[in-house]
Amino acid sequence: MSDPVSIPTQWNPAYSIGIVEIDQQHMDLMRHVDTMQDLLAHPKVNHHTIRKTLRTFIDHVKSHFQFEEEFMFLLGYEHYHSHKETHKFLLLQLKRLVEDNQDQVNGARRIIKFLHNWLVGHMAVDDRGYASLITQISAEDYRLFLEQLRHKQDQERPEEEA
Ligand SMILES: [Fe+2]
Ligand SMILES: [Fe+2]
Repeated sequence: MSDPVSIPTQWNPAYSIGIVEIDQQHMDLMRHVDTMQDLLAHPKVNHHTIRKTLRTFIDHVKSHFQFEEEFMFLLGYEHYHSHKETHKFLLLQLKRLVEDNQDQVNGARRIIKFLHNWLVGHMAVDDRGYASLITQISAEDYRLFLEQLRHKQDQERPEEEA
């Protein structure tokens, strides 16, 4: 059947890993899934818009991964390397999917479904491993970490596309 099944994108409190900044980033990624679904349902969606939206989403995923990786590093998380590898692998899969499907609405739907499934697993399993370690750093160290990372991400952010 070609009728697309809508992906449930509502935030569920069970997704929370207990770290406000990371929960917000996950919510933001869920919102992107929702936005892309709406966009693809529009009868006049074009390839340019699909590509641009997918690129924006991938940028958000990358910056979320950067946040998590620096955070895990700060905490000395024992599975830092393997978790980082799962991020790398996801980005690789995503890149391939986008290269193969970005010009078609059905292809873009496949990407969104893939991302949504991945995101739910990522929140429910992967990110729980390091979340409890936040209690090991002081509030002041965490504040400094957030400040430095935001500064770094601001500097790395590419110029806005016209
Ligand atoms: Fe995450
Ligand atoms: Fe992660």
